Amino acid sequence: MVGSENSINQARDYLAVALDVPSLQVAEETIERLDGEPGWIKIGSQLFTAEGPAVIALAAKRARIFLDLKFHDIPNTVASAVKSGTRLGASLMTLHAVGGVSMLRAAKEAAAEEASRLGVPRPELVAVTVLTSTAEKDLIQVGVAGSLPDQVARLLDLALESGIDGVVSSPLEAAAVRKRAGENFRIVTPGIRPADSAVGDQVRIATPASAIAQGSSLLVMGRPILMAKNPVEAARAAIAEIEDALGRQ
Ligand code: C5P
Repeated sequence: MVGSENSINQARDYLAVALDVPSLQVAEETIERLDGEPGWIKIGSQLFTAEGPAVIALAAKRARIFLDLKFHDIPNTVASAVKSGTRLGASLMTLHAVGGVSMLRAAKEAAAEEASRLGVPRPELVAVTVLTSTAEKDLIQVGVAGSLPDQVARLLDLALESGIDGVVSSPLEAAAVRKRAGENFRIVTPGIRPADSAVGDQVRIATPASAIAQGSSLLVMGRPILMAKNPVEAARAAIAEIEDALGRQ
């Protein structure tokens, strides 16, 4: 039922706020202001490089941790990084599908192994296919001859073959990914903008409601919430829109 504690909590689980801030102090203020509304907090390379594990310990008090460090290295190194992230308490981590099936599989095994050693739930792993900032000419420059949609499809298939949990996708491609990957696949979509907000540098965008309708299972929102006059109100508005969209499914 829309408006019930259950359905609000379910909607909260679909929202990851991107904590794209420069320091632990600003992170702490921001987390305070969000008042536990989002189910997830996404920590990326800017904040993690600046402040390290302390920021995870801080955010984990209020939400599940999405550690967005987009690992891409030899399988052994990525597996070790995933184990470190698991020990820090990350519930979701990203890696680049272009690292290949052996790297993705090694990461998956490492997450399972470390989680079982610690007796904690296994963190989910999702693959970045082609970054939304990449254009076809950039692919050609790095030696990828096919079209951009072909490259996205190829990398999605690698993610599926490796058995990892999902991919990061533009909300505009989420429906196609959902169709190919089926129900039990995490689709993380950045580029979410409420109908009345500034677009910024994102080009492939959707509203929270339309991202849900397209099959997204985790909506990443940064600036529309962080730069809002009242971030907690902006988060609540997004959660209400998600809840409503879930209710219509
Ligand atoms: O501020 P905004 O809502 O655009 O933030 C989106 C977040 O999602 C940022 O942390 C950005 O790094 C991340 N992201 C993205 N596009 C991708 C992958 C991640 O915007 N393809």
